[in-house]
Amino acid sequence: MAKIEGFRIRNFRALKDVTIGKLWSLQQAQQLTPLTAVIGKNGSGKSTLFDAFGFLSDCLKSGVEEACDLRGRGGFDRIRSQGQDGPIEFEVYYREQGNARPITYELSIGLDPSGRPHVQKERLRQRRRGQNHGRPFFFLVLNEGKGVVWKGETEGSQIHEDKVQLDLFKLIESIRKEETRETELVELEDNRKLGIATLGSLKQHPRISAFRQFIEGWYLSYFTPDAARSLPLAGPQKHLNIHGDNLSNVVQFMEREHPKRFKSILDRIAQKIPGMNKIDTAKTPDGRLLLRFNDRGFTDPFYSQQMSDGTLKVFAYLLLLEDPFPPPFLCIEEPENGLYHKLLESLADEFRSHATGKKGGSQVFITTHQPYFVDAMEPEEVWVLEKGEDGFSSIRHASDEQIVKNMVAEGLPLGSLWYSDYLDAR
Ligand SMILES: Nc1ncnc2c1ncn2[C@@H]1O[C@H](COP(=O)(O)OP(=O)(O)OP(=O)(O)O)[C@@H](O)[C@H]1O
Ligand SMILES: [Mg+2]
Repeated sequence: MAKIEGFRIRNFRALKDVTIGKLWSLQQAQQLTPLTAVIGKNGSGKSTLFDAFGFLSDCLKSGVEEACDLRGRGGFDRIRSQGQDGPIEFEVYYREQGNARPITYELSIGLDPSGRPHVQKERLRQRRRGQNHGRPFFFLVLNEGKGVVWKGETEGSQIHEDKVQLDLFKLIESIRKEETRETELVELEDNRKLGIATLGSLKQHPRISAFRQFIEGWYLSYFTPDAARSLPLAGPQKHLNIHGDNLSNVVQFMEREHPKRFKSILDRIAQKIPGMNKIDTAKTPDGRLLLRFNDRGFTDPFYSQQMSDGTLKVFAYLLLLEDPFPPPFLCIEEPENGLYHKLLESLADEFRSHATGKKGGSQVFITTHQPYFVDAMEPEEVWVLEKGEDGFSSIRHASDEQIVKNMVAEGLPLGSLWYSDYLDAR
């Protein structure tokens, strides 16, 4: 399954320039682990980091102008880092499969002369087979919606970014002469839409399609227990949606199509939540779906409307992790909210075994406040966000501190080290 090895964010709210993991220009850095947690004090930028993924995914689905306004973001001026006049920029370094050559995607979003957000730059690059160092080859170059794309799986051009910036049309001319068969000149009709959205729907651009599908598949959890209490119309659904209001539809699907997996969820939830021994669905006369929870102590079932927030949440996470076709990237903000503290280590272990599983589970990215959750994590899996004197956030890898690594190796849990301030900047 595809995996993000690293990414960089610039001028996105408190994240003026933050890199996590590995980039093509930062090859010595360690790539992101299958399970990653970001910790930090209030106001350090955790939600901002989570929303950076959401924003990128919204840009692909709805275009950059709409994405700036969605989810209460409040428009470009609110989300660009205060006092900065450069574009909002993202760089994603990702690999389609374990042994594929990594691909770099770069996106810059700025304002046009009329003050409307638009895509200034978009780049995709990849090294050639056997090329272990040096600049990767561009296979998509777009400036203000105009540029060049290289077809197929392997083609590209090795140009210096400065040159592309200065004179795209000269580049186009030179490419026209040299490699006409593989290249295509493109001009987007609407430069608020991403080039990867348009070109990624074409068969001749398999690498772009794969990348587009990868981002489209990201699952950013906006789960709320109240959404899980809604009464949807009956009908099995394969995947839990981001709010969780089709929880009972997914249960209907799982109990019918994947009874073994569903049984394993029930066994695990019974271990975590005392008394819980059966969960199933029932249909109301008007065709709505009820989610029923059987508690060993009572004869009558409870319905999701009566169930506790934490129970619904744990159940939703387990359903997500048992999805037979999980999303490539799963992002959850503060999964600990509303959960009993002793559940958190086991929840972290569930996330890790899913993320590292042989069946190819999602890469899991989490923000958290909870030392008990962090107790189950390794230093390589944890990143610490910190707000600096200038108001902007920086990020550190917990494993950068040798003393932290040593103490964890000696058996001290990482969360307790965080609690005792060992993870704070020295
Ligand atoms: N445009 C901007 N430029 C710079 N900083 C900003 C901008 N917009 C918001 N901020 C700052 O970003 C900070 C980080 O907020 P964020 O919500 O990401 O923190 P958090 O780590 O999730 O905190 P909490 O633990 O309380 O949820 C806020 O305190 C705010 O001051
Ligand atoms: Mg937050």
